[in-house]
Amino acid sequence: MSARSLLDLTTLSADEVKKLYSVAERLSHEGAKDREYFDHRRGLTGALVFFEPSTRTRLSFEAACIRAGLRTTGLHGAGGSSLEKGETAEDTVLNVAAMGPALLVIRATDELDLAALARRLPMPILNAGWGKRGHPSQALLDLFCLWREGRDLTRERLLICGDVRHSRVAASHLELARMLGVQVALCGPPSFLPEGAGAAPVFTKLQEGLEWATSVMALRVQLERHRDRPDLSSFHAEWGISADTLSRLPATARLLHPGPVNWGVELSHDVLQHPSCRILQQVQGGVWIRQALIERALGLSKEWS
Ligand code: CP
Repeated sequence: MSARSLLDLTTLSADEVKKLYSVAERLSHEGAKDREYFDHRRGLTGALVFFEPSTRTRLSFEAACIRAGLRTTGLHGAGGSSLEKGETAEDTVLNVAAMGPALLVIRATDELDLAALARRLPMPILNAGWGKRGHPSQALLDLFCLWREGRDLTRERLLICGDVRHSRVAASHLELARMLGVQVALCGPPSFLPEGAGAAPVFTKLQEGLEWATSVMALRVQLERHRDRPDLSSFHAEWGISADTLSRLPATARLLHPGPVNWGVELSHDVLQHPSCRILQQVQGGVWIRQALIERALGLSKEWS
């Protein structure tokens, strides 16, 4: 496997995450005016291979590739590709890799063996959301959003609320929290929580979780991953967060959501205007985190050369 692939967060250390955050912060202060950006002089290509839908991850990896001096090529779902003729995801990746991109950014279902592909292929693979296994760049950018406000992550108590069982974001957060010393607790309906005990402490009432937490991450109810469609008629009343909920928390509390949001289910729309809400700041920081990951993967910046 390429040493600079990122399939999950267990392959990073706390020091490497801190380095990523420092680089991402530096990148946040550099802009389009930097001549090295956007001119593609490196002649490298980043291949974005997305077998599942995406807006934030795909477009921010694309922006990050461009800012790092890579051209992009990509596959966005089956439409117009030979997947429609029955080609497998594995064959698709092998064929895209044969075209010689510098790196592959892949979003796939659990069924695609990304680890085997990373062992087999010469270029780094960045996991852009892999079934329910993980979404490492999302967890990194979520905590980057808190870190760059000067918060001490070892004192952070993050409540992850909602459809945890089907969430690859939650899976990556549990890995990252363990590494960085962030305390994590879960809350949500029992059928939305991980099977088996031990992943993290659980609150059975949202209010109790909110009293414990310093920040809260609401998760999308992922209807596409439920075998039976859940009844959501009382979800918002019991587990949803509104501007009024946030107003009853300390001003230092922060609301995160990886997106896309089911408005009126896990969040009410009025949270976007609340000063504790960081949803769009997460997206903004995601480009810098992904640029830092690309520069790490390819050894493009002085920190990784
Ligand atoms: N957070 C996230 O993965 O969003 P997209 O599905 O739009 O990429």
